[in-house]
Amino acid sequence: MNRLGRKISITITVCILFVFIFYLIINSFLLPKYYLFQMRNRVHDLSTAINKMPSLEFKQSINHLEQKNNVTIAYEPIQTNLDQFNGILRDKLYQKRVTLNKFWVTEQTLNQVESGKRISKIYDQGKLKSSFLVDFIQKDNVFIVVGVSIVYLSDAVHIVNKFTIYIMVFLILMLILMVWIWSKKITNPLKELKDISKEIAQLDFKKAKISTNDEIEELAKSINEMSDKLRIAHDDLNQRNAKLKTFISDISHELKTPLALIKAYSAGIKDGIDDGTYVDTIIKQTDQINRLIDKLLELSRIEREILHIEKFDLIQLFETSLENFEIELNQNNIILIKDYISTNQLNIEVDRDQIEKVFNNLISNAIKYTKNPGINIKIYEENEEIVFMINNETNLKNSTQIKQIWEPFYVMEASRNKHFTGTGLGLAIVKSILTRHQLKHDVKIIDGTIQFSIHFPKPKHLK
Ligand SMILES: Nc1ncnc2c1ncn2[C@@H]1O[C@H](COP(=O)(O)OP(=O)(O)O)[C@@H](O)[C@H]1O
Ligand SMILES: [Mg+2]
Repeated sequence: MNRLGRKISITITVCILFVFIFYLIINSFLLPKYYLFQMRNRVHDLSTAINKMPSLEFKQSINHLEQKNNVTIAYEPIQTNLDQFNGILRDKLYQKRVTLNKFWVTEQTLNQVESGKRISKIYDQGKLKSSFLVDFIQKDNVFIVVGVSIVYLSDAVHIVNKFTIYIMVFLILMLILMVWIWSKKITNPLKELKDISKEIAQLDFKKAKISTNDEIEELAKSINEMSDKLRIAHDDLNQRNAKLKTFISDISHELKTPLALIKAYSAGIKDGIDDGTYVDTIIKQTDQINRLIDKLLELSRIEREILHIEKFDLIQLFETSLENFEIELNQNNIILIKDYISTNQLNIEVDRDQIEKVFNNLISNAIKYTKNPGINIKIYEENEEIVFMINNETNLKNSTQIKQIWEPFYVMEASRNKHFTGTGLGLAIVKSILTRHQLKHDVKIIDGTIQFSIHFPKPKHLK
């Protein structure tokens, strides 16, 4: 038997043993007393009833009363000769098949009964192992005996108890057998669950097939659910790991290029072949490394920073960001076409510094990469959301690859040639901030126009 089965059988056996022992003790001590109490009540009730009956009715219904109550009734007119009186009574009882070794109505008893009292007595019959329980009453000068034979109950109880013990042993054996069969039924699915859990622990995300229609089936469901979630988390972790590896190799690559240039140009200076521009190139490359490291630090800081969410007016927030680009916009002759469709104040709940970074990156990209001088900005309400959009024309073609624009160091081929001073981290920072804010965002290319959109949910109490 398995451990659970053993535990169940021991517990049940101990419970049953306890109940049986309690039952045996009660039987031994209380049953004889209870039996006597019941018999005495039966005789008392009858003698009280007889007392209330008219004499004639009593004499006529003796047989009926005896049968109904399982007692013996005898009567005899009271007389002073005690020997004779007791003899007659004993004879009458004998005729009713009640043979008594010991039965004697004393003078005192007789006197008490004559005075109208009810007297109860028990006559122990010695070796007959029984007693005769009687009530004596008097009715119209007639002495009435209402009696019943009672066995020595302690003896009977002893036998019953012995029999009970045999039954108990038999029952416990049966029980152990039943529990053994039953526990196998319970523990088999548990064993399956144990095996599956072990496999899950080894990162083999299996599922249990158990239909017991009880808590074990529910447990199996939970374990299956856990297995699914762990598998997803595990896959996700693997994916992140792979991404991190590419990220690190990308960083190394991005750092290596300017470092190689710095080395080459430094060697050129040393060899005396500097045409006067070498130092400038070295400074430019150092700046590039600096920018890259700043952006990397920014990206890692964003992931750690605690968000300070507050309510702001979206248009105001965007306009503030826009102010930083005034000179750049003028230098590049860029025309901004703003399309703010709302009469309300459009409140959003965000971390101001971080959302400003998002706007700065999107605006600077639009200025940097736009094909013609027009940049479109749209802000409007849509159901429970406030939508922000920024569009500019591009040479990029629409493809599924466009989604990769969010990846760190992802620089579209078309813009790579132009040799902009980008790091390829701007949109990765944007994505990281928007993801942390749980804001829906998207990028699309429609008819040569690249469109970035952010969906801000309206603050709850304003809906
Ligand atoms: N508004 C835009 N128009 C056209 N191309 C864009 C725009 N924004 C981003 N891109 C493309 O996505 C690439 C990644 O952008 P980003 O992550 O900001 O890096 P960076 O600006 O440093 O190159 C850019 O190199 C560019 O090719
Ligand atoms: Mg950028």
